[in-house]
Amino acid sequence: MADFLEITRPDDAHVHLRDGAALGCTAAFSAAQFARALVMPNLLPPVTGVAEALAYRGRILEALGPEPEFEPLMALYLTDETRPAEVRRVAETPGVLAFKLYPKGATTHSQAGVTRLAALAPTLEAMQEHGVPLCIHGEATDPGLDVFDREKIFVAETLAPLLEEFPGLRVVLEHITTREAAQFVGAARAGVAATITPQHLLLNRNDLFAGGLRPHHYCLPLLKRAVHQRELQRVAISGNPRFFLGSDSAPHSAAAKESACGCAGCFCAPVAIELYAEVFDALDALDKLEGFASHFAAEFYGLPRNTSRVRLERKTWRVPETIELSPTEESVPLWAGRELSWKLA
Ligand code: DOR
Ligand code: ZN
Repeated sequence: MADFLEITRPDDAHVHLRDGAALGCTAAFSAAQFARALVMPNLLPPVTGVAEALAYRGRILEALGPEPEFEPLMALYLTDETRPAEVRRVAETPGVLAFKLYPKGATTHSQAGVTRLAALAPTLEAMQEHGVPLCIHGEATDPGLDVFDREKIFVAETLAPLLEEFPGLRVVLEHITTREAAQFVGAARAGVAATITPQHLLLNRNDLFAGGLRPHHYCLPLLKRAVHQRELQRVAISGNPRFFLGSDSAPHSAAAKESACGCAGCFCAPVAIELYAEVFDALDALDKLEGFASHFAAEFYGLPRNTSRVRLERKTWRVPETIELSPTEESVPLWAGRELSWKLA
């Protein structure tokens, strides 16, 4: 049993760094773990244009201080107002990689999200033409739907027709949670991929209610049944380059989560690579971690592989109960107070 593992420095293809006072904390944790990260644009107001994305990127780099060993890559928030000209600007701007589709009302800060995808055909055509990927929060939003069915309904009713209508559109189905999504992506045409979070690999919906309501396990899309968790584990360790690491680390203050109407998101960035190592190790697939964490996202986005390496050590340690998110806010990280058996050196 090897007691350490060295891999190419990983990338996080999906992270929420927030803004303002929290940036010092969130950016530092991601930079400690990853070489690059695709930063989600669901700020208030959302990051809808290249100019705003570059300004946000500047604030992230400033929060990290001089010579950061971390490259923030930016995604723009797709709205009903996004025009093809913005797509062309993204295609011409290094460091701005993709658009993010939030169906309006699907999740945290999705009020400005898309109400009618069909009306965005010229914008989607421009993405297809310029090879600009569309990252998708894949949940149907009809309030009458069962919340546990939203992803599978989105895949069948929105994603499948979208891929047919735009056969060259590059798509990442983000933070997949169901067998249906995993199998759909596995069987889809070229140019379709998915990210998988550590929370959806480590937990299932029982963990939302284990011994009482667990607000720190509440994220969107929701955790699903164990059969879905097992399918996500299966594709994550399969070596199939369509499935890669996207932590969806989404910090909120402890107060905002431990509330009568708590908000969705798991703050996993402080321990993300260790959590993935835990899963891959438990599945006897540590040899598949490097592809999933360090190679496949770069391949999909057409980025060079990172040249530096990181070392993980087999060592039992305890995740802190809380982390100071800003001078006025504490956050509870995923796996708070629990033991892990891998640690980033
Ligand atoms: O749980 C989530 N939190 N899912 C999302 O899609 C958004 C994220 C957030 O920004 O808090
Ligand atoms: Zn997210």
